[in-house]
Amino acid sequence: MSEELWARIDHYFARELLAEDAVLNQALAANAAAGLPLIDVSPLQGKFLYLLARLMGARRILEIGTLGGFSTIWLARALPVDGGLISLELEEKHARVARANITAAGLGDRVEVKVGPALESLVQLGLNRTHPFDLVFIDADKVNTLAYFEHAVDLCRPGAVIVADNVVRKGQITESNSEDISVQGMRRFIEALSKDLRVEASALQTVGVKGYDGFIIIRVR
Ligand code: SAH
Ligand code: DHB
Ligand code: MG
Repeated sequence: MSEELWARIDHYFARELLAEDAVLNQALAANAAAGLPLIDVSPLQGKFLYLLARLMGARRILEIGTLGGFSTIWLARALPVDGGLISLELEEKHARVARANITAAGLGDRVEVKVGPALESLVQLGLNRTHPFDLVFIDADKVNTLAYFEHAVDLCRPGAVIVADNVVRKGQITESNSEDISVQGMRRFIEALSKDLRVEASALQTVGVKGYDGFIIIRVR
């Protein structure tokens, strides 16, 4: 089994199951033109997130880690017209590119990109406390995933779903002595989950155009 094979199969499924999508293609082109890193979820993963939101009937979505808004657009497309998505992004430049992509996708009325360290924005969201979230996608700096999860649980309704990206890290997740702070951050997150009676969780390993990685999927009791 090789990355080349995984990518070939991903392209096959994408060709068969995803519609030609000028808006998302344009967003990826804008991200590349602006020099953003190419670490968006894959198109099939994006549609998976969209389907999850759709299946849940999510009305309020929180995303941590916007980048150029590729996953944001997929998630926001699942919302009803009166639904809302808040996406948190550290980098002003990423947020600027994302807002333009989101507006071009016709979703500007439903999506707010908040700039700043996500931990600070999350504290603010807790203080403002409007409607609780139905779905949270955690995909920012991996070191803070546990802290993001703790905030997410507080900001969610019972029955909400929390998805965390990049939990496999090409298989390094089992390396307890890893010097990679992202691996250690994810390991702290998973260890905390294993003891957390407020939630139930599983993990899904993925292969495809993004290589070998995976998601953790959590339901808040
Ligand atoms: N969800 C996006 C990819 C996000 S990449 C997609 O799939 O399309 C991770 C993003 O998290 C980057 O844009 C990075 O700038 C942002 N980030 C990193 N540290 C952060 C922090 N402390 N607070 C908020 N965002 C952060
Ligand atoms: C990285 C971050 C991501 O969110 C991702 O999906 C892939 C890679 C990274 O920081 O390398
Ligand atoms: Mg990711």
